[in-house]
Amino acid sequence: MTDDVLLVHGGNPLEGEIRVRGAKNLVPKAMVAALLGQGPSRLRNVPDIRDVKVVRGLLQLHGVTVRTGDEDGELILDPSHVESANVADIDAHAGSSRIPILFCGPLLHRLGHAFIPGLGGCDIGGRPVDFHFEVLRQFGATIEKHPQGTYLVAQQRLRGTKIELPYPSVGATEQVLLTAVLAEGVTELRNAAIEPEIVDLICVLQKMGAIISLGTDRTILITGVDELGGYNHRALPDRLEAASWACAALATRGDIYVRGADQIPMMTFLNTFRKVGGAFEVDDEGIRFWHPGGELKAIALETDVHPGFQTDWQQPLVVALTQASGLSIVHETVYESRLGFTSALNQMGAHIQLYRECLGSTPCRFGARNFQHSAVVSGPSKLIGGELVIPDLRGGFSYLIAALAAEGTSTVHGIDLINRGYENFMEKLRDLGAHVELPSEELVTA
Ligand code: EPU
Repeated sequence: MTDDVLLVHGGNPLEGEIRVRGAKNLVPKAMVAALLGQGPSRLRNVPDIRDVKVVRGLLQLHGVTVRTGDEDGELILDPSHVESANVADIDAHAGSSRIPILFCGPLLHRLGHAFIPGLGGCDIGGRPVDFHFEVLRQFGATIEKHPQGTYLVAQQRLRGTKIELPYPSVGATEQVLLTAVLAEGVTELRNAAIEPEIVDLICVLQKMGAIISLGTDRTILITGVDELGGYNHRALPDRLEAASWACAALATRGDIYVRGADQIPMMTFLNTFRKVGGAFEVDDEGIRFWHPGGELKAIALETDVHPGFQTDWQQPLVVALTQASGLSIVHETVYESRLGFTSALNQMGAHIQLYRECLGSTPCRFGARNFQHSAVVSGPSKLIGGELVIPDLRGGFSYLIAALAAEGTSTVHGIDLINRGYENFMEKLRDLGAHVELPSEELVTA
């Protein structure tokens, strides 16, 4: 399909201003939370991305009315008439996203049963959901797996429980939160993920009437209540998208003001950006990121759960590191297969070598398991435009950055995948002066 291909004429700095809206990794989950309320919820700062459309479709199938509000980016979600959905209709969403797994708890509370289709999401590792089903069993749900999806049943009200996650999984933590808030009694969750998007989800649930306390040691205590109301919430900004644009500014020697970016959830990224040699300035409305001239510096980096360096920042930053002088070391500890995208960068002229060993101070879960999860990036490298096939969301955006930083023209296939998490990225690229061309169009320059 020609519409899924983008020609990128690289070699020009990206300069100008773009805006980020609500976080992709919060908004769809806040939409699911609306299912738990007795009255309507109002979610603001909602970006126009595919994951939002998928969840909107699934909510509507379950009787939730979803309409846009008066404000730009506002959704009104009314769960007054939640009902069972047709399995075939739900199954039509199979493979589209990972969010459907989070419908389990709310549907078990509202209907006593749930059907979850096969999940989608980026191919960056095995991405199992064993923690999710294990915690749901602990709450008292019974689970049956079928070829077309998973059926869950709650014979009686789910009960609060004590849970310790084997790893601080974002999704499993959200699963516990969305289930525990209406379960009978207290739930204690140990080794929880505490990403800013999770804290924002806790804020949403608290507005609905939930009782949740976040301890200092990754422990979350949830006291179940009998009923929740609706919420009115403005989603926190997308710190992952903001960092992607920051890396685009660095790799193309550009200057981008990201309106809407917020400093607190980006602190770890900002420190790393500065160590590499990038410049930034924070004001009340956003953050300006730019390449200050001179050489960028190689660094050693390990991805980790929050407050560590977020794995979703890793791929765009690796492209910028191809332009830094010396040897950078990247140890990916969250996903076992999130470095495969580098082989295409090597074809463009980068020098990136992958290793199975943990090349960092912290031995991780993947060290002894034969996964190429560490990288040594040797730079600076002159990148030359090439033929690129987008492998996953962040890897895809990273390919756009590489193509924009490269000399000559790149043909990027599969750009539709980027719509899953980057709102209006084509328009934003053009606003920043990128020379990009859909094969069906004339060359567009700004
Ligand atoms: N894991 C398990 N079993 C489970 C759940 C997770 O072994 O049942 C493992 C995973 O395989 C992975 C690790 O735990 O190795 C972390 O996975 P996590 O559950 O934290 O990830 P997720 O909830 O599936 C969300 C984001 C990801 C982001 C991660 C980590 C959404 C929709 N996705 O995924 O975002 O990388 O948390 O912060 O919120 C992206 O935005 O591009 C993206 C992939």
